[in-house]
Amino acid sequence: MSDRKATLTFDEKSVELAIYKPTLGQSVVDVSGLGKSGLYTFDPGFMATAACESKITYIDGGAGKLMYRGYPIEQLAEKSCFLEVCYLLIYGELPNKIEFESFKEKIRSHTKVDPHIENVFKAFKPDAHPMAMMMAAASAEAGLHTVNIHDREQRIDTIIRLIAQAPSLVAMCKRHNEGLPFLKPRQDLSYSENFLYLLTAKKEGEAPNKVLAEALDRIFVLHADHEQNASTSTVRLTGSTDTQPDAAYVSGIAALWGPSHGGANEAALNMLKQIGDESKIEEYVARAKDKNDPFKLMGFGHRVYKNFDPRAKLMRETCHEVLKETGVGDSPLFKVAMKLQDIALSDAYFIERKLYPNVDFYSGITQRAIGIPVNLFTNIFVLGRTPGWMSHWHEMLSESYKISRPRQLYTGAAQRDYVEMDKR
Ligand code: SDX
Repeated sequence: MSDRKATLTFDEKSVELAIYKPTLGQSVVDVSGLGKSGLYTFDPGFMATAACESKITYIDGGAGKLMYRGYPIEQLAEKSCFLEVCYLLIYGELPNKIEFESFKEKIRSHTKVDPHIENVFKAFKPDAHPMAMMMAAASAEAGLHTVNIHDREQRIDTIIRLIAQAPSLVAMCKRHNEGLPFLKPRQDLSYSENFLYLLTAKKEGEAPNKVLAEALDRIFVLHADHEQNASTSTVRLTGSTDTQPDAAYVSGIAALWGPSHGGANEAALNMLKQIGDESKIEEYVARAKDKNDPFKLMGFGHRVYKNFDPRAKLMRETCHEVLKETGVGDSPLFKVAMKLQDIALSDAYFIERKLYPNVDFYSGITQRAIGIPVNLFTNIFVLGRTPGWMSHWHEMLSESYKISRPRQLYTGAAQRDYVEMDKR
């Protein structure tokens, strides 16, 4: 991996650092041994830091490209389905028919949620945020399972259990908010049809809308993984302490909730509601550009994509399909969204900073058109990202790894002696 060197010269010293060449993307300079020479690297927010080596997902932010295990997201969104993408992320290859049927059977056999988990929801007020309930329910799972994290098969079984149970847990959060009884998962439906059934059915056995289930399946495919984003990095860091996988999973949910990350789809919808109609857009765009105003256009911008987020383009297609199916295409909200997109894409501030609509901008509108409550959008993101988080956890544990423990630039007080209170 290393045929080039970088030389760092400082304080009359020079240190040779290996440069590693990737399959795709930017090369990296290995600074792991730099500490011994008396220097640390300084990179708050990890703007230029590769925290690990991975074979799972590749993003080219400049070209607006995203690939899972080398397969372009456009092809997977068009030709694959969420469970096949889960298999691909976990095992690294697309399954053949026998492998896929066996995988789907394993998922089906893990969908039942332990009755103790239902009690978790009783601890929450009816209007509790679904992400708080999701964290609690996932934590409760940690109380039911002890996993030998160094056993490959137990790691894979855990990932399958988390993928299988996510639809029930998300649906339970929503139904608790609505005071509805929980439903049992159905084995006669596809994964996404079963999720839509658990989420929306008024009575047992009801048939879910296949077009909307298809749209949800695509949302899950588009959200399945995204390289070392904040929540995946959190799962890796938490997992590096050898904690239980359910605990690492909860840490990912906690990180994703933030409106700068997975909470952006809920925040984007609330922003569109706040803007209200097209006459207010200019005012809000001006606020987003005003450095003294904390307001940001939620659903715009991305740390990596300095081009259109490829998921956003695919999500926009699904958005149109769902709006047609649900007949809300001319909703004021959608009109505001399209106008906002056009204004932002032609405004110098956004163009200079390469701020484009990201996946969250369109996924929020799509989910609302499907009838998903706004405060449940990030739970849907959790369901979609479950295979990604846990495939990274599994990949890390499949190779040699160290506990993640960054250092710091200390700018606090130098050593000083304690002075008694009455002498201060
Ligand atoms: C996700 O990392 C991933 O892969 C995440 C994700 C995934 O799949 O896991 O893709 C999912 O989290 C998508 C992003 C969702 N977040 C939002 O939509 C929230 C709004 N976006 C911003 O908060 C912001 O764009 C971030 C957090 C997404 C990225 O922030 P960065 O990379 O730290 O960029 P920055 O804040 O340094 O912004 C650069 C400039 C700044 O202006 P200047 O100081 O250069 O003058 O762009 C401005 C920012 O003020 N800017 C915005 C803006 N986003 C950045 N200005 C107005 N509105 C915005 N949305």
